[in-house]
Amino acid sequence: MLSPQWLDQLRTRITLSALIGRSVRLIRAGREFKACCPFHNEKSPSFTVNDEKGFYHCFGCGAHGDAIRWMTDHQGLEFMDAVKELAAEAGMDVPAPDPRAAKQAEQRASLHDVMAAAQEWFVANLEGEGGKAARDYLATRGFDAATVRKFGFGFAPDERQSLKAALARFPEPMLIEAGLRIAVEGRDPYDRFRGRLMLPIQDVRGRAIAFGGRILAKDKTDAPKYLNSPDTPLFDKGRTLYNLHRAAPAARQSGRMVVVEGYMDVVALAAAGIEEAVAPLGTALTEEQIELLWRQVETPVLCLDGDAAGQRAAMRAVTRALPMLRPSHSLRIARLPEGLDPDDLVKKKGPEALRTLLGEAQSLLDVLWVQERDGASLATPEDKAGLKARLMAHVDAIADSDIASLYRRELLDRYSAFAFPPRPDRRQSNFAPRRGGRDFEKPRPPSSPESLGRLRRASQGSARDALSAAVLAGLIRWPLEIDRHADALARTPALDPRFGRLLDCCDAAMTLESGQLSTILAEHGLEGPDPAEYAGLRFGFLDPDADPAQAAQDLSRALELLVERPVLEAALADATERFESDLSEEAFEEQQRLLKRKLEFDRRLRHMATRNAAVP
Ligand code: UTP
Ligand code: MN
Repeated sequence: MLSPQWLDQLRTRITLSALIGRSVRLIRAGREFKACCPFHNEKSPSFTVNDEKGFYHCFGCGAHGDAIRWMTDHQGLEFMDAVKELAAEAGMDVPAPDPRAAKQAEQRASLHDVMAAAQEWFVANLEGEGGKAARDYLATRGFDAATVRKFGFGFAPDERQSLKAALARFPEPMLIEAGLRIAVEGRDPYDRFRGRLMLPIQDVRGRAIAFGGRILAKDKTDAPKYLNSPDTPLFDKGRTLYNLHRAAPAARQSGRMVVVEGYMDVVALAAAGIEEAVAPLGTALTEEQIELLWRQVETPVLCLDGDAAGQRAAMRAVTRALPMLRPSHSLRIARLPEGLDPDDLVKKKGPEALRTLLGEAQSLLDVLWVQERDGASLATPEDKAGLKARLMAHVDAIADSDIASLYRRELLDRYSAFAFPPRPDRRQSNFAPRRGGRDFEKPRPPSSPESLGRLRRASQGSARDALSAAVLAGLIRWPLEIDRHADALARTPALDPRFGRLLDCCDAAMTLESGQLSTILAEHGLEGPDPAEYAGLRFGFLDPDADPAQAAQDLSRALELLVERPVLEAALADATERFESDLSEEAFEEQQRLLKRKLEFDRRLRHMATRNAAVP
């Protein structure tokens, strides 16, 4: 394995422009180089090379990478060959396979012996004379003797050298490697855990691979409540779940698995008869931990705090899980009453209260929806489009295509119902009939002048275009649909002005028969768009024989696109500008994400506008 540090060193020793310059004619432009992109066909240069950042990027096709990526993607080399060639050029040796790797397996066996010995010693301390304070503390937590024994509680005395003395049969370097002693340069090594109640963290075979140590005294406020073993050859905290070896068999029996936040919660639940509980080790749930859970049950339940931190933890878990979702596998999230952890809840209200709470756990989709819906205001069209964009970004994260399209459909349904509720009476809205009938075209005061400005710039030139014309024709063809969309249209800035006039006319008209509407429109000097304006688009709602219900639905979808487009384009223009000015990975990611959304948008539009074509 090549270490990230070694790869970094390799990258910094290679001048990217020199490497790329061998096959592409580069032109200096300030601190960068420009060229016509070698990854796609183009006439004007949108390919840039930045030596400082060590990466190339194409604004046209999105090609992006470092020196190694150049060698694999452009020169067609395998990763290792690319690395070897670059290393030769940089005068670096590719590290040989670590000779220690072979030794490690052997060492691991003896580290297990060290950990077992330490565990035995901690337990003996708890039972011995020095363990009284720890025993008293355990009593205050209400754990009975059986629970204390089952979970292997122990005690580490408040001394710096006593573990070393007790485990003298193991060499010091092993105690350090096991994470039991701390070595600081220029000082004698000392015991890591001192004056703490000890809990072994065990692997699936029940062997102690790490420890968590809790302070007893409340007055030691400067010390962290828990001290955990560092990662060691035995212990990788991101791949470990506390109590998994006991919870797994129980979970496979009951089909249920609960994830709580703290060690003590796990212990308290077990004491209350809920054996299928595990906890991560003080960090957010990792992908590896989710996989571990899915090996036991299809839908583990995460039990999180009801406060803001719990809310954030819930979203973190959701975003971690989305890309990993596969059929039948998901997570559920249960929210605790504020200020109570699972331990408090079972103690105060009994295990039934917790079972009820777990039974009411929300699905991933519900958590996602509620969080995004309530996360920001929906006062402006930008807000609404923002909500939709965030929802769709989550959908984009789902790798499984079946699950992604089901999420998409469900979220869009909820979004539409929420963002565009049917209006009870348009006459009381902002668009009641106006005598002049022309002032509609004046934009309403924007929520933020800057964002509206950006919106306008982005949609300049696209105001009169095929999509607008098609939707306009569709609304004239299906006048009964106009009412439903009046609000959304009225709030979208920089639309084709004919929409405004159309709405004004409708407000003036009492009956909305298509024929009458066209008479009224003609009277107001507004004719329906010429079919040539939307010649390329064959929406179902323009078909003379369209089914009204289907047409109404297609029209809604087309309208959504119309409303979303300027926002998306503005955001993309913005992100591209930002990326061009700071060239950070972060800005690049954002620009790429929006580019992807734009491509997806275009794909949806194409799909809609050809699906119902009468003639090809
Ligand atoms: P909690 O404070 O909720 O733990 O932290 P708990 O188990 O309920 O502890 P009690 O009830 O006060 O005894 C949740 C988890 O976060 C990690 C531990 O894994 C803990 O179980 N943690 C917490 C730390 O690693 N260090 C800390 O200082 C605090
Ligand atoms: Mn607790």
